[in-house]
Amino acid sequence: MNAESLRCKECATEYDFGAVFYCERCFGPLEVAYDFSGIDPGEARRRIQAGSQGIWRYRDFLPCGDEAIGRIRLEPGLTPLVRAEGLAERLGTGAELWVKNDAANPTHSFKDRVVAVAIARAIELGYETIACASTGNLANAVAAQASACGLESYVFVPADLEREKLLATDIYGGNLVGVRGNYDAVNRLCTELSQEKPWAFVNVNLRPYYSEGSKTLAYETAEQLGWELPDRVVCPVASGSLFTRIGRGFSEWIELGLVEGEVPVFSGAQALGCSPVATAFEHGEETCTPQKPETIAKSLAIGNPADGAYALERARSTGGSIEAVNDDEIREGIRLLAETTGIFTETAGGVTVAVLRKLAERGELTDGERVVAYITGDGLKTPEANSDSFSIHEIDPATDSFEEAFAGVGAL
Ligand SMILES: Cc1ncc(COP(=O)(O)O)c(C=O)c1O
Ligand SMILES: [Zn+2]
Repeated sequence: MNAESLRCKECATEYDFGAVFYCERCFGPLEVAYDFSGIDPGEARRRIQAGSQGIWRYRDFLPCGDEAIGRIRLEPGLTPLVRAEGLAERLGTGAELWVKNDAANPTHSFKDRVVAVAIARAIELGYETIACASTGNLANAVAAQASACGLESYVFVPADLEREKLLATDIYGGNLVGVRGNYDAVNRLCTELSQEKPWAFVNVNLRPYYSEGSKTLAYETAEQLGWELPDRVVCPVASGSLFTRIGRGFSEWIELGLVEGEVPVFSGAQALGCSPVATAFEHGEETCTPQKPETIAKSLAIGNPADGAYALERARSTGGSIEAVNDDEIREGIRLLAETTGIFTETAGGVTVAVLRKLAERGELTDGERVVAYITGDGLKTPEANSDSFSIHEIDPATDSFEEAFAGVGAL
């Protein structure tokens, strides 16, 4: 393992490699500090290619050891990166569009990545109970991975989540706790509980390790592009952890010489009904003012984003932006992606595609620019979002009835 300590992102104070997440001196967030001095780029690439068919192929860049990794039962990763020519055509852009379909993970969202890393670290630290504060997808991932690994789980979510996400959590048999309040209230409760219970809260006291799992999306993207970088990424933002850690993944590989070139332009995507980071971006502010969420994109409904300031920094330093789209645009985004790529995404993916569309319509995507859009969750988790535009041709079981229903349509 190439990691042995944590470091404050603000004041660089070093901390032991334990279940701590904020700096006692300045309250800044802690992150994993690596010693990559032993890494040779050619050898690192060879080790990756000879590795597993999932995120553990990148184990040299993650904060968990081989033994704990061996105890993880669901390995996420190596999800498809597909060219989206049809989508580019519909958007009228000459950019080279790619879609990273990260719904193709064990519980159908990118959260399986962060959970696998956090639970591996929890096992190393001797925890027997795994917990989290979730907007839905993390709940699915924690409940499934904990059960598969023989660990207990307590999953805290806002009680008014989509029914599909609740069902897809409860099915794994952990303890599902619906809190009467929004995600920010759930998160506060879990922060309090983390002081009292001997539990690994993956996104509270294990947050420094958890976040590292998202770097694997950057590594995979570069590897799948033939060890090359995209020019731009479009990525949804809730707490800002995914967005900033994809950035960290690219930066690490550039510094270590595994890939050449510049960090891509980072375009962030939020729902207008919960857009603290997009609002701060628009107003030129360095920190976010908390908002009360009201959007169909419940998985992105974090009003007080922990990594908001770092997401702003990443967008600005790469010449990108953080954009917000309304609920109708989100619904259209879901349809547009489905019709052009055959990928049915949940509301978070609708947000990403709607922002991609906005950038294309504003003429911000240049011809030949290689753009990767991150689709982070599956449409079957939020089917109600598009129920208003749902249509079916109902007929009698007779050819006449069929001909009548389709008279004058298409090839008939
Ligand atoms: C599907 C999906 N995409 C993106 C995100 C954003 O994650 P982050 O909190 O790391 O910004 C979430 C968060 O729950 C999510 O569920
Ligand atoms: Zn500090």
